[in-house]
Amino acid sequence: MDTPKNLIIIIFGASGDLTSRKLMPAIFSLELQKFMPESYAVVGVGRTKMGDEEFREKIKSAILKYSSEKISDNNIVDRFTENLFYHSMDYDEVASYEDLKTYLIGLCPRYSVSHNFIYYFATPPNAFEEMAVNLAKAGMALHDNGFSRFIIEKPFGFDLESGKRLNKKLHEFIGEDQIFRIDHYLGKETVQNLLVTRFANGIFEPLWNRNYVHRVEITSAESIGVEDRGGYYDASGALRDMVQNHILQMVGMIAMEPPSSLDPDAIRNEVHKVFQSFQPITETDVLHNVIRGQYTESVIRGQRVPGYRNEKKVPENSRTETYVAMKFYINNWRWGGVPFYIRTGKRLPTRVTEVVIHFKQTPHHLFRREPGKYPGNQLIVRIQPDEGILFSFDMKEPGAGFNAKNVSMDFHYKDLANVRMPSAYERLLNDVMLGDSTLFARDDEVETAWKFLEPVQKAWLNNTSIKVYGYPAGTWGPEHADELFGNDGITWRHPCRNLTEDNDYCEL
Ligand code: BG6
Repeated sequence: MDTPKNLIIIIFGASGDLTSRKLMPAIFSLELQKFMPESYAVVGVGRTKMGDEEFREKIKSAILKYSSEKISDNNIVDRFTENLFYHSMDYDEVASYEDLKTYLIGLCPRYSVSHNFIYYFATPPNAFEEMAVNLAKAGMALHDNGFSRFIIEKPFGFDLESGKRLNKKLHEFIGEDQIFRIDHYLGKETVQNLLVTRFANGIFEPLWNRNYVHRVEITSAESIGVEDRGGYYDASGALRDMVQNHILQMVGMIAMEPPSSLDPDAIRNEVHKVFQSFQPITETDVLHNVIRGQYTESVIRGQRVPGYRNEKKVPENSRTETYVAMKFYINNWRWGGVPFYIRTGKRLPTRVTEVVIHFKQTPHHLFRREPGKYPGNQLIVRIQPDEGILFSFDMKEPGAGFNAKNVSMDFHYKDLANVRMPSAYERLLNDVMLGDSTLFARDDEVETAWKFLEPVQKAWLNNTSIKVYGYPAGTWGPEHADELFGNDGITWRHPCRNLTEDNDYCEL
């Protein structure tokens, strides 16, 4: 791995949760693994007034609490925090960007940095638009003598129109090659492994198409509710929060053609082509192929949990979906006619994200099987937890006659000795420092994803007769989601936390 050039990372929203829980522990891990530059500083920026020492203490406790590293000596954390600084400013005040500039330029000689800046906007949604533009106007987006890179978190707009507007506004001052749009799913090892599974193994490619694949199923389930994010979530909902970005990016990885190289644009071009090939959703599709739901109060493992409408900052008549399931098609030579089923939701029975490739059945069933118990060949790529892969197939049940029984072969990342799974933020921050944008959403991908979902957003907004089904917290969502499969006698896989278990007996 290359070592990045000396630089300064500036985190806006430094007193917030993302900084404490994810960003600082990630930078700390990169430091321990010697992936940080020889010399660097991290400047936390926020509205809250705080001195450097107070900030360092805050980050120290955050690292001790949230870091996945085994920390045997607190001095290591102390040494790390010596290069952290805090600068408070009023984001709305244009002059304060000039002050920030003077402050940062003042730090450069001490860290032997020649105008290499990474700005991370860990601020509430949409605040970054103005901030990035103000930084650029203050002359802090220069990209010739050094680099200025801008890391932004979703949402990247609210719909097609606002997504386009945001890109246009940023592009007035900042080049696309300077913008790194975080989709933390792309930072997950297991999502990247989709590419390796497909393109490093000769056996899968011949089967990976409409001739052999019956359907593709993606589940991204969470057991938690909206917690204290009701204000943000109610204006977003599952479609914007999970489908437009994380789930479609996974679809891109599963469905793309082999890229010609690992060049960032070679990969992103292929993902974008998949997005461009989505069969447009019609109004009838929204009625029949898209199901939305909202969790209601329930008792989970003996504990009463509130319904969505009783969560903090959620209006009591909210129609925001906390669950969405969809069936759609990709109109190209590889996937024509193969249905893709996706679903995501909060307050489902467990936290699990997985991709299931269901292969077509044999044309003629020779062997006796228990009715309804034949799932066919499946390749399950487990994104989280119990990261790994499982392949299921039939074999002969020992004994008289010829009874076929479904069995599986599985690989679990946790069985690899001495391998640590880096957090998504570690990988992504490291890539930004090296200027590698492969695992970041590009402007055109974001816009095409919005375009695909626009008919759903419009129909939900305009047609109030489209139902929001209630589902008791702790269940697999509205039963209507099963209707997406028609009368084929198939349904969703009901995964457990543990990859090798499903349906009846789950580890809690
Ligand atoms: C975020 C969403 O992008 O992803 C959250 O805003 C969601 O609502 C989270 O909980 C899920 O991420 P993960 O990595 O826990 O699956």
